[in-house]
Amino acid sequence: MNIEASYMGLRLKSPVVASASSLSYTLDGVRRLAASGVGAIVMHSLFEEEITGEADRRARLLEAGTESYAESLSYFPEPTPQGASKRHLDLLERAASLSDVPVIGSLNATAPGGWVAHAQEMESAGAAGIELNVYMLPASPQDGGRSVEARHVELLQMVKSAVRVPVAVKLGPFFSSIGEVAAMLDAAGADGLVLFARFVHPDIDPELMRIVPGIGLSSPFESRLSRTWISLLRGKVRASIAGATGVDQAEDVIKYLLAGADVVMTASSLLRHGPAHAQELVDGVSAWMARKGFQSLADFRGMLSGSGDGDGAAEERAAYVDALRAANAKSQGPW
Ligand SMILES: Cc1cc2nc3c(=O)[nH]c(=O)nc-3n(C[C@H](O)[C@H](O)[C@H](O)COP(=O)(O)O)c2cc1C
Repeated sequence: MNIEASYMGLRLKSPVVASASSLSYTLDGVRRLAASGVGAIVMHSLFEEEITGEADRRARLLEAGTESYAESLSYFPEPTPQGASKRHLDLLERAASLSDVPVIGSLNATAPGGWVAHAQEMESAGAAGIELNVYMLPASPQDGGRSVEARHVELLQMVKSAVRVPVAVKLGPFFSSIGEVAAMLDAAGADGLVLFARFVHPDIDPELMRIVPGIGLSSPFESRLSRTWISLLRGKVRASIAGATGVDQAEDVIKYLLAGADVVMTASSLLRHGPAHAQELVDGVSAWMARKGFQSLADFRGMLSGSGDGDGAAEERAAYVDALRAANAKSQGPW
């Protein structure tokens, strides 16, 4: 049986990819991931804030906060702007040379300026590809949807024109038309679309009267949104599609592949169960394929995608109406 996958033109030994996370903060972490059966490793991001010093400012603010802020700091690991990018690149270079699986560099940008240089440095350091995590919250009501989309495209085009390695965009799910944005990025040369980034939603603690950060590990339920869009986009974009968010067990990986993902990324499951869990995911996919009589991923990838020949909207609407009808029929009493 062959479980090799192809992602952005890279040949991967398995479709399970380690998402950017704190597991790749150290060389030892990367080594453990590489030995765990993953097809590729996305390094933790080089954050714009690390370079500009904004992380320092945030860290000072957080010093006054609760212990749970420590978790949110894991997104901004070392608030030390000086040499932050050099340290990051050194780690990437060593990771790429020791790992026998492709190592993908991750950039977390908010503005295009300067990112081209970092992408080029990542390429020189041996990154097999670059993932752009365009985590941007259009917090100002003046920030129009079109300009947010244009920033994504502009950033992608700038990086694409500067590097030869493939470039993926890790997208958030909050656009009026995900399909159009995906098509725009596809036309602008994206080699991969990672659906979706998981946004951090802070909460309010009414006892402490404080805003508390909302980072935690995901649950499989959260994969439904990504899977729905992957299923709708399958066959409509040239770019590879990575399913991201909500994987815990092998069946979650299988569902993403059936929906049409080329590869499936996971951070939470590897943080929750340890990096060796990746091998369980891979073995689980293989066992399921053997049970179903599939020889390769191509035999079933996208088999349950909703795109078909139409635009998928009618099927989605029918499923929505059916689900509401069924729910209404169930919950009519006794109150
Ligand atoms: C502790 C931690 C650190 C993360 N660091 C990064 C990062 O550096 N860059 C990035 O793009 N995403 C980062 N993420 C987000 C993950 O890559 C992933 O998109 C998200 O957790 C959803 O996937 P999951 O359901 O498999 O966890 C991080 C997530 C966690 C939990």
